[in-house]
Amino acid sequence: MIKKEIIDQIREQSDIVQVIAEYLPLKKAGKYYRTLCPFHGEKSPSFYVSPERQIYHCFGCGVGGSVYTFLMQYEKLSFPEAIKKLASKLNITIETDNSEYRYQPLLDACEFATNFFQDTLQHSMPAKTYLQNRQISQETIKRFRLGFAPNGNLLINAAKKNGISVETLVKTGLAIKKENGYYDWFYNRITFPVFSASGKVLGFGARILADNVEPKYLNSPETPIFRKGDNLYGLFQAKNYLYQHQPILVEGNFDMLSLVDKGINNVIAPLGTAFTSKQALMLRRFSNQVVIAFDGDSSGRAATLRVIEIFLKNNLNPQVIVLPDNFDPDKYIKNYGKDGFENLITNRLDFVDYLLEVKPSETVSDKQARLKEIIDYIKLIDDNIDQELYINKTSDIFKISKDTLSNQIRKEGRDVQSQEIESKVSSIPSLKLLEKQILSLITSIPEFAKTAKQEIPLKCFSADEAQEIIQIIYDNIDLKNYTIAKLIDEIEKPALKQFVVNLSFQEKTVPTKNEFVNKLRALEASWYLKAISDAKIKGDVALTEKLSVEHYNLKKKLSQKRSK
Ligand code: GTP
Ligand code: MN
Repeated sequence: MIKKEIIDQIREQSDIVQVIAEYLPLKKAGKYYRTLCPFHGEKSPSFYVSPERQIYHCFGCGVGGSVYTFLMQYEKLSFPEAIKKLASKLNITIETDNSEYRYQPLLDACEFATNFFQDTLQHSMPAKTYLQNRQISQETIKRFRLGFAPNGNLLINAAKKNGISVETLVKTGLAIKKENGYYDWFYNRITFPVFSASGKVLGFGARILADNVEPKYLNSPETPIFRKGDNLYGLFQAKNYLYQHQPILVEGNFDMLSLVDKGINNVIAPLGTAFTSKQALMLRRFSNQVVIAFDGDSSGRAATLRVIEIFLKNNLNPQVIVLPDNFDPDKYIKNYGKDGFENLITNRLDFVDYLLEVKPSETVSDKQARLKEIIDYIKLIDDNIDQELYINKTSDIFKISKDTLSNQIRKEGRDVQSQEIESKVSSIPSLKLLEKQILSLITSIPEFAKTAKQEIPLKCFSADEAQEIIQIIYDNIDLKNYTIAKLIDEIEKPALKQFVVNLSFQEKTVPTKNEFVNKLRALEASWYLKAISDAKIKGDVALTEKLSVEHYNLKKKLSQKRSK
C-alpha cells in the first residue's frame, strides 16, 4: 500500500494542466483549459480542465476526475501505477510493491510465458526455419518478442516450477481446463505477444506452422487484462514513430512485422477482430490521419470500407493504399521492397477516390449508388471544414452543385451520436432537484460541506449514492488538505466519481450561507414529511407523534431564520 500522505503530497505537487498538456493540446478558455476529448469522437472540444480545482471533465461523454484518474484512463494504469508515474516525474521515491495491483499475477504470468516461448523458439528448428522463410530478422524477433509454444503442456509445467499456479494460467488464457485435466492453450504455434501501450504483455496471438491447418491464428481469449478491441498489435513499438509519420493500419501480424523489418515502423494491426472505435481513438492520440493498407482481395476491400466509417465517426481522416488483387502488404514489400511500398503510400487515396476506384462507377445507376455512399460517409464527418472539402470534391466529380449536396447532407442531420453520448453522462436518477442543488454545493464548495456536516443528518438524502458520497465528504472535510481532487480520489466507484466531477463543473449561483442553511432545512423538512407518513402507514403512533413535534420545531426555526 502507498501511504495516503504520499498520495496527497504527489497530487498537491502536480499540476493537472501540465500533466494533461503532455498528452493533449490544451487551449485556455476562460478559467478553464479545453481540448477535444480523447475518450470519445467529437468535433468541438468539450473536454475541460480546471487549474483551480485540479480536475477535468468532458461534457460530452461524462468522464472526469483528478490527475490520477486521467493517467489511469489515458495510459490504462492502475491507481498505484498512476501514483508511481507522477512520483517519478517529481523525483519522489515511494516504496514499490507491485503486488497491490489486483491483476499483477496475470501480468506476471504473461511475462513468464513470453520468456518461456522466446526460449523455446531458440531450440525449435521448425519454428526458427518458419520465421526465416518469412524473412523476419533476428532483430525484429527480439523486438517483438516472438516465440514458439511447444507441444506437451510444457508451459504449465514450467510455470508450476516457478510458482505460477495453473489457475492463474487459466485466468490469463494460457491454459484451459478440460474433463481430464489442464492443457496449454497454445501449442505448436509461433507466438506474438500483444503489448499494452506501456510495454506489458497482456495476451497473445499465435500462428500455426503449417499452412493448411485450421484455425490459422489462435488468440488468447478475452481476460480481465486482455480485450481485443482495446488493443492494437504493434502500438507499443510504433508509438514513438507515430508523431512524425501517420499510422499505417494493416490486417495481419506478418504484414506489420514485414513492413517494420524493412524499416517502415509506423505500422499497427488490429487483433484479428473487427476494428473498434476504441482502437481509432488510440490512434487519434498521435495523428488525425490514418492510412489503411488492407489486403487487395474482396474481403480486404470490404474491411477497408468498414474501417473508413469508424475512422470518420471518430474524427480521423482515413486514406487508403490500394494493393493489387492477391497481394497483402507482406507480399508486396517482399516483391517490390521498401521503395515500392513507399510509392504506394505516396499514391494513397482519400475515401472518395477509393470508393470510385474499387467500385463500378460508370453507368448512371452506378453513379447514383456511389454518390449515396459518399454522402453517407460525409455525413459522419464532424469537422465543418473537412466536411466542406469533401463536399467540394464530390461536387466537382459528380457535377452537382455544392448547395444541393450540402442541403442533402445537413437535412439528414447527425444528431444521433450526440444523443447517445448525452445518456452516458452520469446521474443519480432518483435525486430530487433540491437534493441535487445541495449535493452540488457541498461537493464544490468545502465551506458548505462543513456547514452541512453540522446542520443536516445523512439520512435526509434520499438516494443511497448521495449518502455514500456525502459520507465520504463528511469523513474528509475536516482534514487540512481537503480538496475536490482529493475527494474524487477517495471515492472508489467510477460512476460516483464521475457524478461528483459532473456536479462540480456545473455552473451554479452560489447562495449566501443563510440561504444555504435554509435549503438544508427545507430538505430536512421534506424528510420529516415522508418519515411521518411512513410512520402513520405502519400505525406507529408514538413515532408519528415524536416526528411531528420535531418537524414542528424545525419549521419554527426555519421561519425565524427567514424573518431575520
Ligand atoms: P499469414 O501471412 O498467412 O501468416 O497471415 P497474415 O498475417 O497475413 O494474416 P491474414 O491476412 O490471413 O489475416 C489477418 C489477421 O486476421 C491475422 O493476422 C490474424 O490476426 C487474424 N486471423 C487470420 N486467420 C485467423 C483465424 O483463423 N482465426 C483467428 N482468430 N484470427 C485469424
Ligand atoms: Mn498474409
